[in-house]
Amino acid sequence: MGWATDYLAEARAAIVGAATEQELEDARVAYLGRRSRLTDALRSAKELSVEERAELNRTKAALEEAAAGAREQLRTRELDRSLAEEQVDVTLPGDAVPRGHLHLITQIRRQVEDVFIGLGYEIFDGPEVEDTYHNFTALNTPDWHPSTSKNDTFYVDEDLVLRTHTSPGQIRFMETHEPPVYMVSLGRTYRRDTPDPTRSPVFHQVEGLAVDRGITLADLKGTLMYLSRALFGDDRDVRIRTSYFPFTEPSIEFDVSCFRCSQEGCPSCRYSGWLEMGGAGVVDPNVFGHVGYDAEEVSGFAFGLGLERIAMLRHGIPDLRAFWENDLRLLRQF
Ligand code: PHE
Repeated sequence: MGWATDYLAEARAAIVGAATEQELEDARVAYLGRRSRLTDALRSAKELSVEERAELNRTKAALEEAAAGAREQLRTRELDRSLAEEQVDVTLPGDAVPRGHLHLITQIRRQVEDVFIGLGYEIFDGPEVEDTYHNFTALNTPDWHPSTSKNDTFYVDEDLVLRTHTSPGQIRFMETHEPPVYMVSLGRTYRRDTPDPTRSPVFHQVEGLAVDRGITLADLKGTLMYLSRALFGDDRDVRIRTSYFPFTEPSIEFDVSCFRCSQEGCPSCRYSGWLEMGGAGVVDPNVFGHVGYDAEEVSGFAFGLGLERIAMLRHGIPDLRAFWENDLRLLRQF
């Protein structure tokens, strides 16, 4: 067979020269496939001499071997390449997964809780949808009091409101616990206010209540001082002013000394040296009457203040609406 030697050389060159598995397969089909000249010749084996058939079979075997070798080589090369290119350096630092964090108001809520847990207080959660008895009546707030008005309070129906303060938590706690009582209640409160820099229809309060034998206004002041220092720094002072709440007698409002200007006078404290913090007082005996406590035996103090106010003062945030807008550029800072 005159052509077999050339065929073998040509086919080998194509097989060995194949740069990819596809090229190799194309070469194999061309020279060894069913339509190749070689297969064609072998198919008409009857017309061939024994010598010729043996030569063609040797050619076929040699080409098959060459193809297998070439395939093996391509695979090894591919493996080397992928090992080199796709290697992972496990010692490199990973990509940081962005992590969220607690909202500033939640952080302050937890901080206040920690302060009072440290003082031996219990944490109490009252309902946000509250009946008028607990929100007003049991807190010695008469029907005609302006806070009961539908202009100021969200009514769900005649007897249910969105709680306007956390004070109903005091009543619920006393209804289910005998004195002594040391509890704080933190959560959302609601008032029909149009949002502005200092008011929001939803805000957060912390309520505190202590009832025991011989509790006085001095204990209240000491507790407020302790809280103020935990929130605003050790050098803070607290001042109390007379005020009025239906459920406390006497009632006070309390201020903390301005930590921005150390009472030199600055815009934060409107040059007064003091920042208004919240309301408080000695629990009115009428309130004890509603929960079956003996006002001759025990006395107590209560206080309430806004968590947004704490956050605004502490971090110099000028507009309370920022806490509800969820602008991450602001929230990420805390
Ligand atoms: N509940 C009052 C308010 O929302 C605050 C307060 C709480 C006052 C407890 C006295 C005692 O303004």
